[in-house]
Amino acid sequence: MRITFAASEGVPYSKTGGLADVVGALPKALSALGHEITVFLPRYRRTHLKEAHLSIANLTVPMQDYLLFCQVIDGGKHDGVQFYFVDHPEFSYRDGLYGDSHGDYPDNAERFMMFCRAVIESSKRFGPPDVFHVHDWQTSLIPVLLRSLYAYDATFALTGTVLTIHNIGYQGLFPNTVVPKLLLPWSLFTMDRLEFYDKVNFLKGGIVYSDYLTTVSRTYAKEIQTYLFAFGLADTVYKKRDRLIGIVNGADYGEWNPAADPYLPARFSTSDLSGKATCKESLLEQFGIPKEKLQSPVIGVISRFAAQKGFDLMEAALPRLLREDVVLVVLGTGDRHYEGMFRSLHRSFPDRLAVKIAYDNPLAHLVEAGSDIFLMPSHYEPCGLTQIYSMRYGTVPVVRATGGLEDTVEQWDPKQRTGTGFKFRDYDPAHLNAAVRQALSAFKNKEDWKQLMLNCMRQNFSWEQPAREYIEVYEKARRLRVPK
Ligand code: ADP
Ligand code: GLC
Repeated sequence: MRITFAASEGVPYSKTGGLADVVGALPKALSALGHEITVFLPRYRRTHLKEAHLSIANLTVPMQDYLLFCQVIDGGKHDGVQFYFVDHPEFSYRDGLYGDSHGDYPDNAERFMMFCRAVIESSKRFGPPDVFHVHDWQTSLIPVLLRSLYAYDATFALTGTVLTIHNIGYQGLFPNTVVPKLLLPWSLFTMDRLEFYDKVNFLKGGIVYSDYLTTVSRTYAKEIQTYLFAFGLADTVYKKRDRLIGIVNGADYGEWNPAADPYLPARFSTSDLSGKATCKESLLEQFGIPKEKLQSPVIGVISRFAAQKGFDLMEAALPRLLREDVVLVVLGTGDRHYEGMFRSLHRSFPDRLAVKIAYDNPLAHLVEAGSDIFLMPSHYEPCGLTQIYSMRYGTVPVVRATGGLEDTVEQWDPKQRTGTGFKFRDYDPAHLNAAVRQALSAFKNKEDWKQLMLNCMRQNFSWEQPAREYIEVYEKARRLRVPK
């Protein structure tokens, strides 16, 4: 099959979160199964291209009272996957992907409309795919455009569309003045289409107009049909439930493998765990934690500082938890409030809590490898990748049982010696503390802990199985397009 991915970020070219990891890895896995995969990404200021050939010198994208002109760059074929980059100053002259310290860029609707149109127009020249696989609100206009403005374009008559929702908390909401600005017909601005409390909701459009809908875990697929999790889109998702499939993300073990990780001071594997102690030592050193703490359990956190990730719970639970013999190392950026919170906790517990406010991939690898426990008490979590990576590094996850955390972590059972971590359900500090305490007490029993680490490291979340599940969805989407 010919599948075209359109996404706003992808490893190794651009990244703010797990979406980029998925867009970097799933196409490779699909290509390994024999499919023809093309990926379109914006070319941002920090996108480094190993190869860059001009493919389309000048593509016209009309807006209401002006025209935009962008270029399409051929980024070459890597691991069998063809990459194209949409190049326009509105992407490449800015530092951020979606915004800066003042918030989201005010022209995001125009920027991502331009990207969507450029993907469609380029695909006309390169030959239409069997399926467009789009991701999150930034590319949700592709299914909308194909079934509205492009409805009579014979090129795409047989092309199916699949939208993956990586996070329903981000919807691409814009004032309704963008309708004429983007040349969208007003007929799309109704409650059962793109309208959302008098605003335009890109993700809602994607949900309504895509042939199939997926999300990144089975539990999250159920959760987003409910009012508690859907940020106002529960009814829209529920209506589409027969076309909604949950597929748990994989991990790219080419990137995240303690036995061959170039970012680590020592490597380790299930047959020889000794390198992990060296990683722990180096981690404590990098975070400025005294050497005497080497025997204490180290809890790692790597995260965007966003409400989604459960930082309010940590705020309430940590002052008590940090009275125990434990070390917490935190790597993250985002919400200023939580940056301040960790800085102030560090002042109160300088030997027990250290924080790096940074986006630092090599350091993320060291935190995964050098910690004993990985903490992820998310309020909601569509899938979560860091807990999947942590398991491969023998770093035992403590998670809240929601979304993908529920699907990927199995509660440790000391009698059967099965399980991979510790889960709590109720979103309150007492339950978070109880789960961490369970982990700390298991840590004291060396044999139990080793078993737990090995259980974690032996989990297999490689992309091959999810890639096969995506193929089935693509087949279904394509079948919908075949005239009866
Ligand atoms: P989300 O996409 O919601 O942020 P995921 O767990 O799916 O959560 O993916 C997060 C990805 O971003 C992981 O690859 C993780 O290593 C990376 N990451 C998050 N914060 C940082 C950071 N401060 N420095 C480096 N990498 C980070
Ligand atoms: C989103 C979600 C995260 C998921 C990632 C990749 O950013 O917050 O849970 O793992 O997308 O699908």
